Amino acid sequence: MDTPTHISAQKGLFLHQVTKRYDSIVAVDHVSMLINDREFLAIVGPTGCGKTTLLRLIAGTEKMDFGHIYFQGKCIDDEKPADRKVRMVFQEDALWPHMRVFQIDYYSNLSFGMRIRKQMPARIAEAVNIVTNRLGIEKKLLPRKPDKLSAGQKQLVGIGRAMTIIPGIFLLDEPLAHIDPQHRLTLRRELKDYHDKMETITLYVSHNLPEAFSLADRVAIMQEGKIIQIDPPARIFSNPANDFVKDFIQCFEM
Ligand SMILES: Nc1ncnc2c1ncn2[C@@H]1O[C@H](COP(=O)(O)OP(=O)(O)OP(=O)(O)O)[C@@H](O)[C@H]1O
Ligand SMILES: [Mg+2]
Repeated sequence: MDTPTHISAQKGLFLHQVTKRYDSIVAVDHVSMLINDREFLAIVGPTGCGKTTLLRLIAGTEKMDFGHIYFQGKCIDDEKPADRKVRMVFQEDALWPHMRVFQIDYYSNLSFGMRIRKQMPARIAEAVNIVTNRLGIEKKLLPRKPDKLSAGQKQLVGIGRAMTIIPGIFLLDEPLAHIDPQHRLTLRRELKDYHDKMETITLYVSHNLPEAFSLADRVAIMQEGKIIQIDPPARIFSNPANDFVKDFIQCFEM
């Protein structure tokens, strides 16, 4: 579709009235927001409020019923997921079950994105070495298939897979949910560091509110498919938009 001129000049990720229905459920309800270049946005809200669906619409793995999505001023509504400059780490395990974690001479979970982009083996090995070191993925795990990994190990491989290709938009859906608390702190710093170095836009969904608030430039609070408030963390505390936000942030200790 033709992009209106005031939007084509817009940097960042712009959602306009984005809506997704599943029969009678409105999972994402006319969401409009601008996420700036290099911004780290946390998305929080109760179970079932539409966080995963919103990320899937941006990734293109779900189709919108209404609205438009623009990235760097260009409408991406009709772009296939593979053509979008988006990498997503899924909430549920989404590794390829028949592929090993890493295999230099064949398609594998960590190398798949680079292989289909026809990158050279030496470059692939280097990138995999960097992400496995950063994330603490043990070398002994590399020959395994996903059914031989723990939930946390699968999550690390999922993050590593997304990190091997530099995205314009990095979507993380509860990426650390299965990781032990100590490792979680290190990984949190790694993700933030990756975001800063790669100059991406990051959307980070988490039920761990202290984590989300500590990482984010702004936090979006969702309720029943709508964004109720989007503000820097400190402002959400000082000026909660309504009683729902006030109650929601009172549920956790910072
Ligand atoms: N494929 C689907 N078919 C039908 N309904 C769906 C589907 N996916 C999600 N929904 C519904 O859409 C709403 C939003 O779901 P979504 O998974 O986006 O929530 P969420 O905020 O990610 O929840 P959680 O915090 O539990 O992960 C829910 O009511 C859910 O039941
Ligand atoms: Mg979810």
